[in-house]
Amino acid sequence: MTTIDYNERIPNNVNLSGDRRLQRALEQWQPKFVDWWCEMGPVEYQDADVFLRTAVSVDRDGWAQFDYVKMPDYRWGIFLSDPEPDRRISFGDDKGQPVWQEVPGEHRSDLRRLIVVQGDTEPASVEQQRHLCRTAPSLYDLRNLFQVNVEEGRHLWAMVYLLHGFFGRDGRDEADAMLQRHSGDTDNPRILGAFNEQTPDWLSFYFFTYFTDRDGKYQLASLAESSFDPLARTCDFMLKEEAHHMFVGATGIGRVAQRTVELMKEHDTDDVHPYGGINIDTLQRYLNFHYSVSLDLFGAETSTNAANYFAAGLKGRFQETKRDDDHQLHGDNRTILTVEGGRVVEHEVNSLAAINATLRDDYSADCAIGLERWNRTLAAVGAELKLPHVGFHRAVGQFRDVHLDPEGHVIDQATWDANEARWLPTEEDRAHVASLMVPVTEAGKMAGWIAPPAQGIGGRPVDMAYVRT
Ligand SMILES: [Fe+2]
Ligand SMILES: [Fe+2]
Repeated sequence: MTTIDYNERIPNNVNLSGDRRLQRALEQWQPKFVDWWCEMGPVEYQDADVFLRTAVSVDRDGWAQFDYVKMPDYRWGIFLSDPEPDRRISFGDDKGQPVWQEVPGEHRSDLRRLIVVQGDTEPASVEQQRHLCRTAPSLYDLRNLFQVNVEEGRHLWAMVYLLHGFFGRDGRDEADAMLQRHSGDTDNPRILGAFNEQTPDWLSFYFFTYFTDRDGKYQLASLAESSFDPLARTCDFMLKEEAHHMFVGATGIGRVAQRTVELMKEHDTDDVHPYGGINIDTLQRYLNFHYSVSLDLFGAETSTNAANYFAAGLKGRFQETKRDDDHQLHGDNRTILTVEGGRVVEHEVNSLAAINATLRDDYSADCAIGLERWNRTLAAVGAELKLPHVGFHRAVGQFRDVHLDPEGHVIDQATWDANEARWLPTEEDRAHVASLMVPVTEAGKMAGWIAPPAQGIGGRPVDMAYVRT
């Protein structure tokens, strides 16, 4: 057997070379990961040189090193944010106690579950996006897709490190299962429903990275508060990379909106489909779809599991330590939205039970920020995009059994049926978007449905050959 210098091969700050047991576990998992990448990762360009960012340390210069690499040779590293000296548990029933460096026996299965559910989404999104490389609107975008993909791969490494490092035999089994479940597989699907849908086109990809990667941000941010310190530090570092994924979505949609506005002005019409653009009402329908399915990822508004995870100190709220309350919430109430007598009403519940609703509210407020930016572009033609009501098109929680219109009015089935094609992407929308998905592989050239980005990557010009075959 050839020996690989894992300290070199897997950049890390967890002293891999000093932990024989962990090193051996990862040595056995690594080739399975690379096989998975080659089989389930991007369907093309595996031999291409891609201008990628690699993290080789957590400090300012080390976490973003740019160079051309072939994706299967990417150095998927294991990084935890630097420890906070004397860190204390910041919420839940053990608030004020020292954080845990090992997994407490009584929380072992819950922590493993949280790590597995989070970890499973990472390779799932790579699988969902594997065909997009055939239709990228530019080399700049192609490179961004691959950057997101390799970093989701690194996020899987991050979770697998925790499983191998802290959960013994069942951790190793769970790490193997991460590579055996596949997005959309009928026999062995990914754990969460939204991660079994395909990402069929680049408009979906931008909305996915804007809305669904942002769900990831909020899940990671609440795990970054965890009393299990290695999990907290792992998630904290992942958040740095997640920011780029949401940037890809926010700027992607912004560029589509900009191009739409240009075509509307040039041809003096709202209907730019004949001119190879994407109409604003089509954008709104895609937005409605991706926002509503991403809201479902937060789970039901009230949840005993979420309350237990919080009380036990496993998973906190977004920016837990910056919140102005007792961080235990036993006596605290808040309102959630529900439907009563055909109307949306507020209903008071215990805050501890409503942890999911609180995280989801923070998420929604964050989603609204990007819309403001897109709407500054769309204002030039007197148009705007809006977030639909949180009860619109939901499959989970208080609104799962009713229909709401995007403004939040409860409507009957007939009204829904009569209007669904105005509110959610139609076959026609999808066919039109699909017709625009023609690859553009010449450096500096852009597909006609999207404007060029304002800037290149890592200080390089927009027209650089970000992917070289
Ligand atoms: Fe991720
Ligand atoms: Fe992501």
